[in-house]
Amino acid sequence: MPVLDDVQAMYNADTKGMLKALWELPEQCARAWELGMAADVSPMDDLRQVVVTGLGGSAIGGDLLRVYAAQRLDVPVVVNRDYVLPEFVGPHTLVFAVSYSGNTEETLSAYAQAREKGASLVVLTTGGKLGEMARNDGVPVITVPGGIAPRSATGYLFIPTLAVLYRMGLLPDLSHEVAECVSLLQSMREELKPEVPRDSNQAKMLAASFHNRIPVIWGSSGTTEVVAQRWKGQINENAKAPACWNVFPELNHNELVGFEFPGELLRRLYVVILRDPRDHPRVQKRFAITREIMEGAVAGVVEIMARGSGALARMYSLVYIGDYASVYLAMLYGVDPGPVRVIDTLKARLAEE
Ligand code: F6R
Repeated sequence: MPVLDDVQAMYNADTKGMLKALWELPEQCARAWELGMAADVSPMDDLRQVVVTGLGGSAIGGDLLRVYAAQRLDVPVVVNRDYVLPEFVGPHTLVFAVSYSGNTEETLSAYAQAREKGASLVVLTTGGKLGEMARNDGVPVITVPGGIAPRSATGYLFIPTLAVLYRMGLLPDLSHEVAECVSLLQSMREELKPEVPRDSNQAKMLAASFHNRIPVIWGSSGTTEVVAQRWKGQINENAKAPACWNVFPELNHNELVGFEFPGELLRRLYVVILRDPRDHPRVQKRFAITREIMEGAVAGVVEIMARGSGALARMYSLVYIGDYASVYLAMLYGVDPGPVRVIDTLKARLAEE
């Protein structure tokens, strides 16, 4: 597959600079922490829930927060990908309204509802209508740099929420975790960048395994679950290709049964098991047994272990590999990873209604 080793051709095909944004992700994470630390927020009395409302690339950061906070925060984090907020939202709820463009109609609707319900709000955006509304309403706005795709801004759209929760006295100071994450990603990009040839580039090898197959990405509840979802979304949006995701242990109770028919199509699946040293010990035992059961039916199975010691570094180490792999898969399909015409068309059509 010479296409993956023609570095200049890849940069030329990438008209929106997805590879550049990936290269800059470590610095984005560092900057994102600073932006969150500078936000104009104050502690809340009797906080009972945190809600992150957003869609697509602006929502996945909410899920990263949900998983990250599950063992650290004594209130639940709920992610809302809809026009409508859950009934429980009220004066004891902190709502992060997240939209990179600031113009996503579902998020604008949820923002208005959060205001009506008397929730405390923090907005993360580059501007748009959401930025304007928030400024007029006196709602704190974390303005993140524009010019990249929302899905490339996962640092900007997630890490400031950690800083805000720290500043509100709800999470410890995570600056060391952020620093570890930044330096791990800085070293990983030297392994994953386009200049590293396919035979020694894990992301390129993955893309080659996914090519002309359907990737099936499995994570585990409480550790890598969101990363599996992220891989799926990135393969969809960057490579314009389908992918599936699921989580252990739940998939052992249904999905695993479905590896018998139709044999011909199953041989087109390529399975990735995302692993984390903190996966539940019983779940770790499930990986090998699961492989024994289904491996013969599919094109291949590979396990990828998270790197780093803090949860942030471990999550992002896997996100990074998947992000690069999805861009390389786009190259193999001969498609520009940046534009998402289908989403743009949908939004434009809806704006006419
Ligand atoms: C595009 C992308 C999309 C958008 C989504 C919401 O890169 O990832 O999933 O994130 O359409 O738009 P924003 O983020 O502007 O609210």
